[in-house]
Order: sequence, then structure tokens, then C-alpha cells
Amino acid sequence: MPITFEILEKDIAGRLGRLKAGKRSVRTPALLPVVNPHLQPVTAGEMQAMGAEGLITNAYIFSRSEDFRERALSLGLHRVLGFDGLIMTDSGSFQLSVYGEVEITNMETLWFQQSIGSDIFVPLDIPTPPDADRAQAEKELGLTMARLREAKELLGPDAPLAGPVQGGRFQDLREQAGREVGELGFSFCPIGAVVPLMEAYRYGELVEVVTASKKGIPASSCVHLFGAGHPAMFALAVAMGCDIFDSAAYALYARERRYLTPSGSAKLDELQELPCPCRICRTHSAEELRTSADCERLLALHNLQVSLAEISRIRQAIQDGVLWELVDERCRSHPQLLKGYRALLNHAGSLEASDRVSKRRFFYRGSESCARTEVIRYHALIERILLPPRVLVSMDGRELPGFDLALPFRPPFGPYPPELGETFPIGQSEIPDWDEAMVSAGCRGIRRLIESHPGCRVAISCPDEWIGVVRKEVPGAEVIF
Ligand code: GUN
Ligand code: ZN
Repeated sequence: MPITFEILEKDIAGRLGRLKAGKRSVRTPALLPVVNPHLQPVTAGEMQAMGAEGLITNAYIFSRSEDFRERALSLGLHRVLGFDGLIMTDSGSFQLSVYGEVEITNMETLWFQQSIGSDIFVPLDIPTPPDADRAQAEKELGLTMARLREAKELLGPDAPLAGPVQGGRFQDLREQAGREVGELGFSFCPIGAVVPLMEAYRYGELVEVVTASKKGIPASSCVHLFGAGHPAMFALAVAMGCDIFDSAAYALYARERRYLTPSGSAKLDELQELPCPCRICRTHSAEELRTSADCERLLALHNLQVSLAEISRIRQAIQDGVLWELVDERCRSHPQLLKGYRALLNHAGSLEASDRVSKRRFFYRGSESCARTEVIRYHALIERILLPPRVLVSMDGRELPGFDLALPFRPPFGPYPPELGETFPIGQSEIPDWDEAMVSAGCRGIRRLIESHPGCRVAISCPDEWIGVVRKEVPGAEVIF
């Protein structure tokens, strides 16, 4: 049976959806915890009890293991792991990226993944490191695409196959790879080889790689960000249109005695308090957790709960249309995340096309909010407002004689017809006292109004303190003060 993906709600380029593979399904955005059968601090059954609807494991490890290979082949993965949710298997490509080679072919891994009853199989793609040159990226992408074609030919069009998108750091290659993977009929597309970017906090580059890949991948496909990761970056990735994450971070961080929070991580040995509502943190002091014989496992349980809770928070934010606010909050917890956030805002023009029309609210959270999709969309709408010959944009609320219409002004959007005063975003925006960034953005709205209505006389009634900004942003305008 093919993989299907249904989109139920949208916010920015993020989606609430349902991914189905065979008879199993997960709600998205989803986190698939990584299960390593050899060293597993948390069992798959415990993960299911914590709300994980799917998990990912490495078929290569199963195929090379004396213990697990035969059991997986005879009992199937779901029984071996004690998990009846969706199980995705990876091919060994990650080992390939770490060790340089693997003792398995594309056909062998696909046959093995199918034989152990995996719900989603991954071909043996080649993860090109971000610092590889163009020749290497092109060559390896060619090989990856040949293996994806081989997988489709071998298993048929309806096999539950993932189609990884590679291309290194080259945006045109990523876009081309995304398009070709879509044309080959893959409806589930992991974006690959981004782990080195995330490990080095290169979130600005991550945003460029994901954005380029998403340009090529069909909008209806489910997108998996391979190897992500830390809960602090989930909201940013969802805003770009990533639907699935897989994370070993909960276990890797626990091994290093690191305590995850939705906004970062801390060294357990430096904590006096456990600032989290999960059962482990409420029933242990920091000292008790540190000295527990079970410390690694308890920390892994906490880390996983934090990660799963963040996914729930993101799903609720999409439902409410407040994902921008959550992205803004998370991305202020680390300067490199802020860099990623700003890179995302630079793409707001193209994100606007996928954003939804109406949301619960627009909370102004500082100058970054001026670049949001809602502001861009409102400025485009300004061009379509029908105006009489003489219009006053009233920034100070005054109504002056000699005008056919006075438009009130709401930064960061700009002038608006009174009829739009109760509709989104004007009516649902909450702003503090005006600041220069929001007034400048609103003035760009006035400029847009003037440029798109050349037959109208548009004057601006402006409070004294904002005259400088108005003159700068709307040069040549008729200003009344
Ligand atoms: N895990 C993390 N990155 C990758 C990747 O690029 N390909 C595969 N198959 N697995 C991964
Ligand atoms: Zn906790």
C-alpha cells in the first residue's frame, strides 16, 4: 500500500496532517524517536505509552546483528520491539556518512527492510556533507537518484518508500532533487545530510537548504527532516514545512548527562532545580537524579517527554494559527537560532503563498514581527483597496475637511478601510506602544497605497514624533501636522 499524506490545517508553511503507511498512521508534525536495539534506555513500549505514534530504527544494525537479524526476520520488527505503531527503518546511509562505507547494497537493504515488516523503507541514499564541493555533491546526488529509481523499479510504485533529498549545500541541486523525487512518485521525502549543520548550530544554512529542497518537493508530500534533533528547533523547522522529525537526541544527550528543555539544554551536574512538569522531574530533586543508579535512563525519559511535549505544543499552535509567535519565542533562546529565524523571515514572501488566511491573533513581539507573512499579505491587499479621489491616512486619528475618506492606521500593517477594522489581521493584532520598526513597516503600507493608486490624492496626518519616519519611508508624500 502506498504512503499517503493528508493535510488538515496550515500555518506559515507548517501543516497539521496525517501520514498513513499501510494500516498504520501518525498525526503530524510527529517525532519518531530513534530506537537502537542494542543500547536502549527507553523501551519502545514506554515510548508508545508516552504518546509516540511512530518510531524509527536502523535496519542496518538489525541486519548486522547476530541476536536481532533472525528474530526480526521471523517475528517481524513490531513484535521484536514490542511496538504496534508506525515503524520506519533507515538503510545504513547514516553509517555511510559516518564511516565512509557499509557492507550492504541498495537492493539488499530494501529487501531486508521489507522482510522485517517495516512500515516505511529508505533506500541507500548518499548523504553528502555540507562542506563537499559541487562536483562531489552532483556525483553523489546522481548515485542517490539512481538508487531511488532502482527502488521504485524493484518494489513497484505503491511500495512504502521514502525518497531522500540530497544535494549538499547547493540550493539548485536541492531544489532539483526535490522535484525529481516528486516526479518519481515519492510522497514521503526526507531531507538528508543536515545533521552536520544542526550539530554545528548552522541554522542559517539549514534554513537555506530546507527552503531550497521544499521549493522542489511537491506541496502535498510529507517532509521528514532527517536526524533532527533538538526540541528548540522543531518550531522553526515546522514553519518551513517539515512534518516529521526523528531524534536520537533524547538518548545521546542523556548519555552525556545533559538535560533538554524546549529552549536549550543544561548540564545536569550544574542544575539546582529540575524546571519541568514531567513525573521524573516532579518526583526527584536535581541531586537525587544526579546520584540515581538509573540516572541515564531517567534523564532519557525526561528528554523524550520534553521533545514529545514540544511537538504537541507545535500542533496546538498550528491549530490556533500562532506558530509565528512560537517560532519567535524559541528562536530567541540561541543567537544561531535567531539567525535561522531571520533567514526564514527573508523567505516570508514565498511562505506567504502557503500561509492561511485567518488566524486567532497577531501578537507583536518586536521588529522581527514586521517581516511576517501577515504583513506581506496585507501590503499586497492594500493595492486592491478601492479609493475615492481624496484620501487622508490618519495616523493621529484626526478627521480633516477636504477629504472624501479617512483611513485609520495600524502598524505594522498600515492604512486600512474601516470595514477591515474587525477582520484578521487588523482586528486581531495586539501591539504595544508604537516603535520605529512597526511605524516604518506601516509607512511602507502607505507607500504601497500611493504607488498603486496614482489617480488619488493621498495625504498623511501624522503625529509630530513620527514625521521623520514618514518622510523617510514615504518620500515626497503630502504630510499634514
Ligand atoms: N540520517 C541522518 N541523515 C540521513 C541521511 O541523509 N540519509 C539517511 N538515509 N539517513 C540519515
Ligand atoms: Zn522532566
